Amino acid sequence: MTGLTPQPPLHQVESGSMEEPLLDVRDLAVRYGSIEALRGVSLSVKAGEFVAIVGPNGAGKSTLVNTIAGLLRPARGTIAFAGQQIGSLSSARVVQRGIAQVPEGRQVFSDLSVADNLQLGAYGRYFQSPFLIDGYARLLGGRRAMRTDLDRVYALFPKLHDLRDRLAGTLSGGEQQMLALGRALMSEARLLMIDELSLGLAPIIMRDIAEHLRVLNAEGLTVLLVEQNVNLAFALARRVYVLENGRVRAEGTPEELRRQPEIERVYLGSPIAATAMEAHSVE
Ligand SMILES: Nc1ncnc2c1ncn2[C@@H]1O[C@H](COP(=O)(O)OP(=O)(O)O)[C@@H](O)[C@H]1O
Ligand SMILES: [Mg+2]
Repeated sequence: MTGLTPQPPLHQVESGSMEEPLLDVRDLAVRYGSIEALRGVSLSVKAGEFVAIVGPNGAGKSTLVNTIAGLLRPARGTIAFAGQQIGSLSSARVVQRGIAQVPEGRQVFSDLSVADNLQLGAYGRYFQSPFLIDGYARLLGGRRAMRTDLDRVYALFPKLHDLRDRLAGTLSGGEQQMLALGRALMSEARLLMIDELSLGLAPIIMRDIAEHLRVLNAEGLTVLLVEQNVNLAFALARRVYVLENGRVRAEGTPEELRRQPEIERVYLGSPIAATAMEAHSVE
């Protein structure tokens, strides 16, 4: 057990909604030695929402998702998921609670096959107990579930099925991003966090993967996307946070943020770019 007792929700009821957020981050501060990478960040994601985080290099975006994922410890603040505090849990426990991460740079296991990479995504589900025997019992019982999940991932990304015996290190950037997404989905997450979806991808591949994400979200998966391509983030997300220098600079729907001249100027470039983006984001 984690030793944490369930906490009453710390959040305020959001205006216009009585719904409790699935993810609720409050006043989060994270340091690397003397560098304060996050300086009191609060954000929330409701079940079923598609939320994006944008901001310049070094703003603290990766630090934020890595802290939610349990890879870094907060110096201050709280992280609640489904009403429970998770800020002190290990990354393995965070996965078990239902948060999956596609890390910046994909980080697939190059020397393992595509199929093995995918199965590793499910691994954590079966080893929740400190007693190995329980883990093995769950593993045996879970084989069928894993097979079903694998089939689902292959149905979503038929390309991964074609490539299932290839070593992951030999895949293209787009194929690796699909693999990283598929691996995250194998953990049966309720919340999927993706750090830099489009990084290094050709536009046509980026659009293909973005379309998959849109479908997954429409099917009910909650998505938190960190994205340096602001046009893509605005096209996909219903709500966007702008992170700068470890703080939330602005928050709103893409339409609301586009109306803020400073955001428009810094993040969306020329009015021509904004017009092109609007054309792209029409559903
Ligand atoms: N491992 C680390 N050690 C020291 N400083 C770090 C480390 N990782 C990130 N930083 C610093 O923390 C800040 C936020 O970085 P990061 O979260 O990677 O930003 P982003 O993902 O928005 O580009 C930056 O100033 C960065 O230099
Ligand atoms: Mg980053």
